This record gives sequence, C-alpha cells and structure tokens, in this order.
Amino acid sequence: MKVLYVASEALPFMASGGLGDVAGSLPQALRRRLIGCRVVMPLYSTISQELKDKMTFLTSISVPVAWRRQYCGIFEAKANGVIYYLLDNQYYFKRDTIYGHYDDAERFAFFSRAVLEMLPHIDFRPDIIHCNDWQCALTPVYYTTMYAKDPWYQGIKMVFTIHNIQYQGVYGKEIVSDVIGLEGSANILEYDGDINFMKGAIECADKVTTVSPSYAQEILDPWYSHGLDTILKARRWKLQGILNGIDTVSYDPETDENIFANYSAADRSNKKLNKAGLQENMGLPVRPDVPIIGVVSRLVDHKGLDLVKAVLEELLNTTDVQFVVLGSGDWQYENFFKGVADRHHDKMAIRLGFVPSLARKIYAGADLFLMPSKSEPCGLSQMVALRYGTVPIVRETGGLRDSITDSGDGHGNGFTFKSYNAHDMLDAIRRAITAYYNREYWPTLVQRALDCDFSWGKSANEYIKMYNQLLKD
Ligand code: GLC
Repeated sequence: MKVLYVASEALPFMASGGLGDVAGSLPQALRRRLIGCRVVMPLYSTISQELKDKMTFLTSISVPVAWRRQYCGIFEAKANGVIYYLLDNQYYFKRDTIYGHYDDAERFAFFSRAVLEMLPHIDFRPDIIHCNDWQCALTPVYYTTMYAKDPWYQGIKMVFTIHNIQYQGVYGKEIVSDVIGLEGSANILEYDGDINFMKGAIECADKVTTVSPSYAQEILDPWYSHGLDTILKARRWKLQGILNGIDTVSYDPETDENIFANYSAADRSNKKLNKAGLQENMGLPVRPDVPIIGVVSRLVDHKGLDLVKAVLEELLNTTDVQFVVLGSGDWQYENFFKGVADRHHDKMAIRLGFVPSLARKIYAGADLFLMPSKSEPCGLSQMVALRYGTVPIVRETGGLRDSITDSGDGHGNGFTFKSYNAHDMLDAIRRAITAYYNREYWPTLVQRALDCDFSWGKSANEYIKMYNQLLKD
C-alpha cells in the first residue's frame, strides 16, 4: 500500500503547531509498519539552510491556478527514513511566516493542485492521498472534479483529516473564478453564502477523520462545529476519530538534550534537578517543596485561558504554588499574564513566544500541567507532559477526554473537570495540589504518568485498518 501524506507543515522541516508534529511522526510510524508513506509539503523559504542543503531537485512542472499557470519545482529529501517532496514556488512561499497572508487562498489552492499535478513526475503512484486541514482541502475537490476519471489517476482514495475545525478556509465567492478555477462545480465549495475549502473536502473525500474519537462526536454539535455540523451530520457515515500519538523518540526524558538532567520511568530521581533548573531559568525561588503548574499553549480563547484569567489571582493569593507560562497569542492574555507576573513575581513567570527547548524544560521541570481547553481536537502537550512524568489537569473535551482520566478513582493519570467553568477548574487544581502534598500518594501518580504509552503504535494500526477498508470498498 502506498500513502501520500499531504500537509502544509511537517517536522523536521516546519511546524507551527500540532499538525507539524503529527505530519512528522505518523508517516514514520506507518513506514515502520511497512506501509509506503511519503509526505508532500510546501518548500517555505524559512526552512533552515541545513535542511535545504539536503534536498535534491527532481524536476519542475507548471501548475494551473484558475486562469494562470505557475512554476512548481519538485524537491526531494529524506528525513527519519521518510521521503518528503517539497514544492517550490518563491512567489507563494518566500514569506516571513507560513500563514496569515492576504493571498493564502491562492497559495494553498496552488499547493493543493500541485500535489495532483506532480504525481506523474515522481516514482510514487499513491493508492491513498491523505490530506490535512483546510490548506490541502482542495486536493480531494480537484481530484473528484478533474482527475478521478483520468485513467492514470483512477481509483486513488482520498482521506481528509480535520485537526481543528475552527480554521476552514472561508472566502468570498469571487475566488472561484480568480483563484480556484472550478466555475462549473462551485456548489461543492459553497456553504452559508461563502466558499468554504473544508466543506468541499468533507463532501469529496472518501473518508473524513478527526484526531480523537470524542472530537469526532463533538463536531456534530453546533457548540463545537463552527457551523459545519449540518454538513458533517449528513456525512456521518464517513466520519471517524483516531487519537494522535506522539513521537516518543524525540520526546524522551532519557535522551532529551534540551532539559537540565535526563531521567526515565525506571529512574526518575533526576526529575528534581529539572525542577530546580526551571525555577532558576524562570526567575522563581528555587524551592523543591512547592508545586509548579506549567502551561505551554497558544494564548488564544479556545485553549480555555479565560478560565485561568478568572481565577489565577485567587489561586496565587491563597496557595503556596508556582505558575509558569510559555506561549504567545492574543494581547489580552499576554498582558494579563505579564501583569500577574509583575504583581506575584515570586509565584508566577511568563515567557512569550514559541520556544520548543523551553517547552521541554517545562514538561520536565513542572509537577502539574494545565490544559483547560474549551475545545481540543486532540492535544499533544498533555501526552508529552505524561511522558515527562508531569501530571495533567485538563477539561474533559476532545482528545483531552480520550487521553486523561481523573485519578480520583485510584487508576487515572491526571485531574479532570467537565463543565467549562472557572471554579470547576480551580477545584481540579486544588485537588491536584492536595495530591502533590500527599507524600505517599504523589510518587505513585508520577510513576503512573511515566508509565503511560502514547506512542503511535495503536493509532498507526487504526489508520492502516482504515486505509485497507477504503481500498476494499
Ligand atoms: C491542532 C489541534 C490539536 C491537535 C493538533 C494535531 O493543532 O488544535 O488539538 O493535537 O492539531 O492533530
């Protein structure tokens, strides 16, 4: 079986969030299970020179973008045993940031079309094309409307995975003739008076998946669906949720070079050195006896930060605790956390930005990891935290609900709360802190966290089962 995995970001070349992690690690796991899996992504100018030097130029083609044709260079590189194709066009991909440009619709229409156009020019004819998120949502749409009947392309199955339904690629109708070029079949993309890339993929793909079973249920509900519940309900038969895994080779406290001292599930005595290192690094009092709660997150609404905003000062005023935040995003949260850190400099510290090496120091050095998301398609940080023996406090939603259970029953691996309510969250935090001070119980819980297995094994097998089923149909 041959799978072409299509994503707008994939490690080790580029990641701005969880999609890049998944697109970097799932293909490796599939390959280890003897599935031929290759990855295709844009060749962004911001990819490091060291990685660019390892790419080889295969050929160039010209790709239709509505009424024009654009150059597309095809480069190949091998990383972690997986072959990557990187599609080059400097007009589209020579930018400071990978998303957020006025012409994103055109940039990713180009990419989605180029994925199909390049196939006859490489030595890999996929049985399955697996697309991810709105940036490659037009690939199944182009396939269905323009390529499916061509004898060379016939029979390829299309999988579309939703990593976050909030970002759908919604534009005005004028982009059909100017950018997409599907005038005859625009109805496939129309939704609610707009053009909606994700809706088109949901209609055209043979299978639609999301990154956790709970999220697959949740997005049928308007509270979570950002308007797409009706279309998803009508196509419920092709919807499935498969929980993500994490790259347990990259995220391994035994070998991670970014942390202060290495440790493992078998010998976690060095974890305390990471706690001291983190406290010092963040300018907090170095105290082994106080619980540290870590947050590593984009600072945006759906991560549940309004709950934190509502009760953080109450927590800090009444409790001996340290609170460490790494992230960036909405200025209201950045300002809020900076303000609290100024007022409580011995209890709270924040670092703005996306700093993977510091994130790892927090996973390793904190005692508790807070993720109170309003919605969370999967979430990888809670799994990484467990891998580093740091106990998650999460809201029961999406992948958080599918990976973390409350330890109140004597078996769970974290602390959870259900309603999207600040004091319910605060209650879970207080239970976690009480557990931390229980010197007999706490080591058992930390060990249970370290013993959890969120490697790709089970999930990669589920993907393979799904691919096989599709090829049989
Ligand atoms: C998105 C989701 C996150 C998920 C990740 C990888 O970033 O918001 O929940 O873990 O994609 O699938």
